[in-house]
This record gives sequence, structure tokens and C-alpha cells, in this order.
Amino acid sequence: MKIEKVLVVGAGQMGSGIAQVMAQAGLSVYLNDISDEFIARGLKGIERNLQRSVDKGRLTAEDKEAILGRIQGETGLEKCSQVDLVVEAIVENLEIKAELLAKLDALCPPETILATNTSSLPITQLASYTKRPEKVVGMHFMNPVPVMKLVEIIAGLATAPEVTKAIEELTLKLDKTPVTVNDYPGFVANRILMPMINEAVYAVYEGVATPEAVDEVMKLGANHPMGPLALADLIGLDTCLAIMEVLHEGLGDSKYRPCPLLRKYVHAGWLGRKTGKGFYDYS
Ligand code: CAA
Repeated sequence: MKIEKVLVVGAGQMGSGIAQVMAQAGLSVYLNDISDEFIARGLKGIERNLQRSVDKGRLTAEDKEAILGRIQGETGLEKCSQVDLVVEAIVENLEIKAELLAKLDALCPPETILATNTSSLPITQLASYTKRPEKVVGMHFMNPVPVMKLVEIIAGLATAPEVTKAIEELTLKLDKTPVTVNDYPGFVANRILMPMINEAVYAVYEGVATPEAVDEVMKLGANHPMGPLALADLIGLDTCLAIMEVLHEGLGDSKYRPCPLLRKYVHAGWLGRKTGKGFYDYS
């Protein structure tokens, strides 16, 4: 299965990172979002990342321009008809993703693979909203996408083995490491990571320690590159809450109940770095 042209839907921090690494690997990328403003913000982030690599002498200015030249912003989905692969990286909400996948299924040629960057929603269920469940696969990138080596690949119940293989091969082409897992709530990465983050929030909620102390303990005591609360702010507290809800509902165990403090921050619009405030202040 050849994968040369890709449509990335969603130009947020994950989608723009995915577009960047795809273009760096020589693929032609359409970067889609609902407004020109969102696309411009995504492209600006990519430009900033590439410029940092130029400044550090890892990339030439010509290569930077060539990479940017391989990414085209689009607000419509018309380019669907031309692509071998779509990667959706929109908001972590089942209904919204289901609606998008059904639309993509109707617009894309039958051979196009539909990959979702969902961090926890069931691939088998998402696939059921299309008439091509064998071509639907999870391609879960980690944040920040340009830096993190892992892509967790999730095979739904109906995903064809050759589709999983094509996505594994593409991942290697992106200079990342694929790890393929089965489709259960939170897959592997977030089934293990999110309860740790949620427990860190509980430690603050119950007055065990301040966010700074929790993070320092885990950085210096467990050698984590950043503390769980700083990481939660990086991921987005709304995404963390959405993932905990999926674990709680999908596994039916009270040990996955989201911490009330996490819910409170999300209600307040304190979503972490993207809104300037979460467990830390970024203003
Ligand atoms: N985009 C692109 N590059 C970035 C970046 C970003 N947002 N943030 C940092 N970098 C780059 C820096 O430019 C720097 O590159 P060079 O070494 O080439 O100069 C490199 O990453 C290291 O950055 P810093 O020196 O500024 O800081 P650091 O050493 O603390 O590293 C980090 C930053 C890579 C984010 C590191 O702290 C880390 O690995 N944190 C943990 C990240 C993690 O766990 N991610 C998974 C989240 S879970 C997830 O994504 C799944 C989900 O579904 C929620």
C-alpha cells in the first residue's frame, strides 16, 4: 500500500506536529481545519519548530522551505479524493469524531486508509461509523510530536493486517518507533500514564503536597523528564479528563474515577498551557 499523500484533519498541537513530521519524511500533506485562523496558527508553529532546527544547524534553510512547501492548508475536505491516508487529530469527542469519519468515508476513494490519533476512544467503535472498518486504524502520536519517538498503533477488531502493516512502515519512515497494541480503553500509553496523572491531581486535591512538590518528587525521584502536573498542562487538562472518563466508563472500575479537582479546572477553563493556566501559570 503506497502512502504518499496525506490529509491531516485538525491543525492543533497534535495535528500540526503530525503534518510536520509527515512533510519532513517527504510526504505531501494537506492540513485541514475549520478556519483559516486555526490553519495559520498550526503552520506558524511548524515554521517555528523548523526554524529552531535551522538555528541549531540540523536543517538547512532550503530544506525548511521544501518541508513547508509540502504542506498546504485547506478548510474544505475536497482534497480527500486525492489522498492515500487521512489522519484525524480533532477534539477528543466520540460524536464529533464519528461525524467526521462518516463524512471522510463518503468522500475518500475506497482504498484510502482512515487513521485516528484518538488517545483513548475505541477504534472498533469509531470504525463502525464508516463502511470501511478494515481500513480504519489508530495512529496515536505522543506530544510533542516532533520530539517523541513512539507511535502507538491500534488495530480495531476489523482492521486488516495489511493496513496495520502499512501504518507501521509509515511510522518507521517518519523516524519513529511503532508499537502495535489491541483496542481496549486507553490502549497502553494512556491506560498507564493517565491514572498516574490523575493520582498526582488527587495528591494536590487532598492536600498531600503542592503541584511543585508533586512534580519535583517525580522528576528527581523517578527520573521523569517533567512532573505529572506539568505534563498534564502540556497535554491539556480537558484531554486528560476526557481520557479518564473513557477509562472509567470503558473499564467500569472506580479506580479510574477522575479527580474532582481536575473536573473543576476544566469547568473553569483552566486547560493548561493552551489557555495560559492550569496547575501552573503561563501568562
Ligand atoms: N515542539 C517541538 N519541539 C519541542 C517541543 C515542542 N512542543 N518542546 C520541546 N521541544 C524540543 C526542544 O526544542 C529541544 O530540542 P533540542 O534538544 O533539539 O534543542 C528538545 O525538545 C528538548 O527540549 P527542552 O530542552 O526545552 O526541554 P526538555 O529537555 O525538558 O524536553 C520534553 C522537553 C521533550 C517535552 C520533555 O520534557 C519530555 O519528554 N516530557 C515528557 C513528554 C511526554 O511524556 N509526552 C507524552 C505525553 S502523553 C501523550 O502525548 C499521549 C496522549 O494521548 C495524551
